Amino acid sequence: MSTESNNLVSRRGLLRTGAGLLLIAALPPLPGHAAGSSEYRIVAAPARARLAGAGRPETDVWAYDGTIPGSLVRLRQGEPARLVVENRLDQETTVHWHGIRLPNAMDGVPGLTQPPIKPGGSFAYEFTPPDAGTFWYHPHANSLEQLGRGLAGAVIVEEREPVAVDRDLLWLLADWRLTDEGGIASGFGNRMEAAMSGRVGNTVTLNGRVSEAEPVRAGERIRLRLVNGSLARIMALRFEGHRPVIVAIDGQPCDPHEPEGGRILLGPAMRVDILLDMQEEPGRRYGVIDDFYEGLSYRLTQLAYDEQRALREHPLDAPLDLPRNPLPEPDLAAAERHDLTLQGGMMSGMGGMQGGGMMHGMTGMGRDPVWAINGMSMTGDGHAGMEPALTFQRGRSIKLVLRNETAWWHPMHFHGHSLRVLSRNGEPVPHRQWQDTVLMAPKDVVEVAFVADNPGDWMLHCHVMDHQMAGLMTVLRVA
Ligand code: C2O
Ligand code: CU
Ligand code: CU
Repeated sequence: MSTESNNLVSRRGLLRTGAGLLLIAALPPLPGHAAGSSEYRIVAAPARARLAGAGRPETDVWAYDGTIPGSLVRLRQGEPARLVVENRLDQETTVHWHGIRLPNAMDGVPGLTQPPIKPGGSFAYEFTPPDAGTFWYHPHANSLEQLGRGLAGAVIVEEREPVAVDRDLLWLLADWRLTDEGGIASGFGNRMEAAMSGRVGNTVTLNGRVSEAEPVRAGERIRLRLVNGSLARIMALRFEGHRPVIVAIDGQPCDPHEPEGGRILLGPAMRVDILLDMQEEPGRRYGVIDDFYEGLSYRLTQLAYDEQRALREHPLDAPLDLPRNPLPEPDLAAAERHDLTLQGGMMSGMGGMQGGGMMHGMTGMGRDPVWAINGMSMTGDGHAGMEPALTFQRGRSIKLVLRNETAWWHPMHFHGHSLRVLSRNGEPVPHRQWQDTVLMAPKDVVEVAFVADNPGDWMLHCHVMDHQMAGLMTVLRVA
């Protein structure tokens, strides 16, 4: 199946509509599917995938519905969805719907919000997504290994009114550590890595395979949804010869703007939606470069213009703004203020740190946690009996000051809420952006605010999976 058809029409969309197959396939991008069809059955099981491309060995993976990435889940804003997850792995799992503001019991955190799904068992996730946008799903049990072996998929929640673009594409990017034989390298939970930048791999895939080129047509406007599904790799993408406009971050529309320095920063678990006007000549090719790590830049893929003449001469004359989602605006004047300080890691001398008695579940991690938030370390993926670090009264506006006292980058992820990002190192953050995953550079201080309107115990953790497992996690309670 070509990437494009993979992106535009989910396999399940086709199955569900049955006789409508040809019709749907012939429609323009983002076909609406029949009302009331937001039902999926997703099976987590071992599978095989050709990640590195033809001529390279296949890889044993764990996958949703047998494909890497897993089935694209398409939901509609404000319409109830039901997703039954079946576990055919030989270990417990759960699914977390990353970034979707849903009821706590559907959040997929083992012990905290649901019992894990046993091998052979299943669990029905039911919720109504309030926000349109780009989200993704992944396990929240033995996360480092389950995500690292391939369990991930994207969720698109469609806007009520479609946005005016010629094509709507999604690139789920993932980073793998492959051996020469094509296997997934062992050594998950290496303690040294956990104290540094985490398990960064050696092979980056775009929708499940290493990509040489992605076809585009001159004159078209593409909405490109970027998802970083990596365990630990941070990306900084440059589109050579093009000027991407960022229209949404972590699923939430922002004021359209060009990225600083032309580089789109994507920490693990982050999503960025861009609009790309393909204003170059038919037949030409342009690199998409990731140069986040100094001296380690590589070409992720190329935009390959086909030979067709331009679809139009000038960029599409349509607004760039996406419709905003119904997020409650925090009342900054009345907001309660709290600090969350990230500590630990290599070069920190975490000697004085207290473990706080929350050290269970450190799969293969060795003894002590290496990271902490406000002096406390919660390790693993979530489990019963995690006491909240902070409790907020439901409906209150909350302002959090996140301080990264470590020498490492951390994409800090909040469950259950999207946060308005106010400032970074004293500078106001423009573009009215909301995020669920805030990438923090070493020593960064970031202020965020939100209305604590979603009741329950919510995980807050670094999305570098090794960091989460090794203590960079806590719980926030909205009571
Ligand atoms: Cu995307 Cu707690 O995770
Ligand atoms: Cu999440
Ligand atoms: Cu981290």
